[in-house]
This record gives sequence, structure tokens and C-alpha cells, in this order.
Amino acid sequence: MINQDLYTAAKLLQEGQVVAFPTETIYGLGARFDDPHAIKKIYEIKGRPSNNPLIAHIATLEQLSLLIRDTPTPEQYRLMESFWPGPLTLIFAKHPNVPDEVCGGLDTIAIRMPDHPIARDLIHETGVPLVAPSANPSGCPSPTHHQHVNDYFGEDLYCLNGGFTKVGLESTILIFKDNQPIILRPGAISREEIESILQQRVSLSQPTHTPLSPGMMYRHYAPEAQLHIAQTPAEIQDVLDQYQHQPYPLGLLLSDQTIHALTIPLGVQIKSLGDKSNLEEISRNIFQTFIAFDHTEVEHIWTEEFPQTGLGLAIMDKLRRASQKE
Ligand code: TXA
Ligand code: MG
Repeated sequence: MINQDLYTAAKLLQEGQVVAFPTETIYGLGARFDDPHAIKKIYEIKGRPSNNPLIAHIATLEQLSLLIRDTPTPEQYRLMESFWPGPLTLIFAKHPNVPDEVCGGLDTIAIRMPDHPIARDLIHETGVPLVAPSANPSGCPSPTHHQHVNDYFGEDLYCLNGGFTKVGLESTILIFKDNQPIILRPGAISREEIESILQQRVSLSQPTHTPLSPGMMYRHYAPEAQLHIAQTPAEIQDVLDQYQHQPYPLGLLLSDQTIHALTIPLGVQIKSLGDKSNLEEISRNIFQTFIAFDHTEVEHIWTEEFPQTGLGLAIMDKLRRASQKE
């Protein structure tokens, strides 16, 4: 049985509107993959550069044939079997019928099968794959709750409510170049998990090269305050010890362990990322805490480094991008 909200959302999509919906990673801003007019609206609403392509979301493997030119390789099949539905996005040669608007001028298409009942039911009910970037204005932290989407775009944008998302970070994006797997965007599926399925080393795309993934060119996910990443708790303690002399409101975005290790003067705004040994918890909290800081007067936020293994790779990627100067 499909509920009234899902029915309304599917109808809006069929009529060429844009609708926000939850996935297991973050909320997406969706349109039918075959509706260039609606896709243009997505770019407009987000203020997104038109050369930054979208991810297509499918609910069944049969839908792949609408989107891709060639049969997937055995390696791609193994990854789909292992991680779909789930937060792994794979890059394929695109089917000639896919509108150019989806792919930002590239001849490839990014695809994943989301692991969220609302996302999948919405795709089923609409009857076609949905393209969906994150439901945030370009550059802002990604939304992990329907309230974030409402705050960003107002009540006029129809959003299916799913509460907080389970993962809180975007999907991992993987491409094969000359049969070599390369992570274009670290995300919710770790490099180690992919390597264990492929039994092959997976490399990371180097930010200095011409980006294979156009979205990686931009400063990203940033809170309004300037984010600083400290290498040690002592570095943060030094900042705090000089705090009285600073004119600006200061925020801390740290693990519970680091918060407890510091002597923090009154007036500093503290937000916890959670238990440092639980990187899933840290991942879930990043965007939500960025957004929470945007509702304060804080101008500088200090955060810490996390180990770059497992989910730590994606966590550090988000923190680094957010800390870049404009
Ligand atoms: O978890 C996610 O992936 C979320 C949810 C909504 O599914 N979506 C998401 O979409 O993060 P977005 O638009 O915020 O990020 C898509 C990224 C961009 O960096 C874009 O450049 C890259 O995917 N991308 C899309 N198509 C591509 C392609 N053909 N080749 C390389 N990168 C591509
Ligand atoms: Mg995004």
C-alpha cells in the first residue's frame, strides 16, 4: 500500500515538478531522468553549475538498461551484488537516450540504487529512474533531515519526510579507468570494503589532476563559519587559552573524547560529533552539526583529525573541503 504523500510526490514528478526525498545517505532533490525541463529546474533551485552532473537513482536492475550503453562488466556486477541497494555510485557509459542535462555534457552516467523504502517506493510509483543531487543549495552542507530541506528551500518545495537519514554522508563514487577502479568521491562505502570485494587495489582520484568528477572542483558542504582542523588537542587548547583576547565567537566541533580532554572557557559553543571510536556516529553527525552552527553567531569553528581508514577517509574529505577558504 502506498501512502498519500508518496502518491502526491510521484504525481508531481510525473507532471514535471521537482520533489525532495530521503535516501539512506542524505536527502535528494529529484526529477524524472527523462525530463530535461524538470532537470533544468533542479540546477536552478540549487544554483548548481550546469557542468556538474547528477546521479540517477534506480529501484530495480532492469532500469539500468534505460540508462547505460554497454552491459556492466563482471567487476561492476560484483559491486552491485555486494552493495546495492546501498551507498555506492558507479559510473557507466551513458545510453544515447539519456538527456545531456543529466550528465553535464559527459558521455558517462553515475547510477546507484538507494537503500531507503521511501526512495525506492517513489521510484517504483513514478515508474522511471529519478536523477537527484543533494537537496541543498550548491556549496551548503547536505541535508540529513527533512527540516533541513524545508529550511533551505521553503515549504513550496514538496519534500517527503523521513526524519534523520541513517548514514549522513553521501555515497562513494567509483569509476573504472582501463579496468582500474578509482574512487572519485570517498563516501559511505569504504575503500577497504570495495577492495575486499574486487580483490584489487582501489586508488583515489588525485585532486591535483583534472577532476574526473566535476563536483569535486568546488568548495563544499561548508558551514557559514570558517572551519579549522587542528592536528592535536593541544593545538585547540592553545586557541582556547587565548580565547579571552579574541573578538570572535568560537565553536568547537569535536569527539566526546577530545571535549573531555580540554579545559574549555565559558562562552565557547560546543557540539559533539560523538564517540571517536565510532566513525559511523561521527559520519551521521557532520552535516547536522554544520547546519546547527549556521543557526548560531559562531564565526570560527575548530574541529579535529580522524584516522583516514574506513569511513575516516570520507569524514576527512568532508572536513577538508569545508575548511577550504573560498
Ligand atoms: O548519496 C548520494 O550520492 C546523494 C543521494 C541523494 O543519492 N547524492 C549526491 O548527489 O550526493 P550530488 O549531486 O550532490 O553529487 C553527485 C556527484 C557530483 O560530485 C558529480 O560531479 C558526480 O556525482 N557525478 C555525477 N555524474 C558523474 C559522472 N558521469 N562522472 C563523474 N562524476 C559524476
Ligand atoms: Mg551535493
